[in-house]
Amino acid sequence: MNNLGSIPDDAIPAVATRRLTEDAAGIAAAASLLRAGQVVAFPTETVYGLGADATDPAAVAKIFAAKARPRFNPLIAHLADTEAAFAQGFFDDAARSLAAAFWPGPLTLVVPSAPGCRVCDLARAGLPSVALRVPAPDLTRALLAQVGRPVAAPSANRSGRVSPTNADHVLADLEGRIAAVLDGGETPVGVESTVVACLGGVPRLLRPGGVTREALEARLGFALAGPERGDTAHPVGPGLLASHYAPRAQVRLEATAAAPDEVALLFGPHPLPGADAAQARLNLSPTGDLAEAAARLFSALRQLDGLGAPVIAVAPIPERGLGEAINDRLRRAAAPR
Ligand code: TXA
Ligand code: MG
Repeated sequence: MNNLGSIPDDAIPAVATRRLTEDAAGIAAAASLLRAGQVVAFPTETVYGLGADATDPAAVAKIFAAKARPRFNPLIAHLADTEAAFAQGFFDDAARSLAAAFWPGPLTLVVPSAPGCRVCDLARAGLPSVALRVPAPDLTRALLAQVGRPVAAPSANRSGRVSPTNADHVLADLEGRIAAVLDGGETPVGVESTVVACLGGVPRLLRPGGVTREALEARLGFALAGPERGDTAHPVGPGLLASHYAPRAQVRLEATAAAPDEVALLFGPHPLPGADAAQARLNLSPTGDLAEAAARLFSALRQLDGLGAPVIAVAPIPERGLGEAINDRLRRAAAPR
């Protein structure tokens, strides 16, 4: 049994997971596996996604089995370009404006699904809306173009674990459970996409992420609705569980000092008292650069968690720009479970 309690680790038959290289042969192999209904992990600018043909419910079901996800949350459908995304949903003026400004990029738009939407009910969790995203990397878009269908993909980690930012992270969680991982190296943004719902009225921020609230609001010329900064106790989107990004260690936020039996996660140039005597310490960005900190966040959590200390003490991180997404993920990692 794993730590989810009810889902046995061996619930699916073991397969030999292939590590595909980021060249034409690797992309073609990944695309043909996806077209054949297999599950393949692939890089995006944010984190690695666990992809399946979004038009095929049997393929999408394999995502949930591989992740050992206890519930069918709605998934993001990934498209090769904006035109392909526009065909799947109804985009009002705000949605069009955000798509034009931030796609391709780390933004997911939740919009009413179009009559011709090909994203299956299982991938949408039966909702009348659909979550769409056009990722930025050339590698990802080449893969999506070759698949030629929307690709549903949550982050490529076991349910409850932190999101993977390289292929080794993916294999650590999913080796033997998925057909392949397309290895594109480290993901540059490091936190998941920002999710904004454009369902009529003022667009609503459902999840802070790789595009900052400030950048979205500057484009729109007005403030987004919900959630209040720092409010992860009241999830506004399905699947936005308060406890979600869960290392094995306890996570202690806003630490003003570290104890000797803890490991310390630091940010910026200011020393954290006790950190030098702690079991280990990592600095997300010694210069206080929030983009660098976001890119290193999940790797750092995995690394520190792997040392087996009971507590990860986390120094304060400013709640501006990408700090909003970083703190959102850290609060989830610290939430009681
Ligand atoms: O960066 C990312 O977004 C990564 C990469 C792989 O693209 N994907 C990702 O997927 O983080 P996932 O499944 O971990 O998160 C998808 C989020 C969830 O919070 C889900 O609730 C929300 O999108 N979502 C999807 N469809 C929705 C819908 N119809 N209405 C509201 N929220 C929705
Ligand atoms: Mg996830």
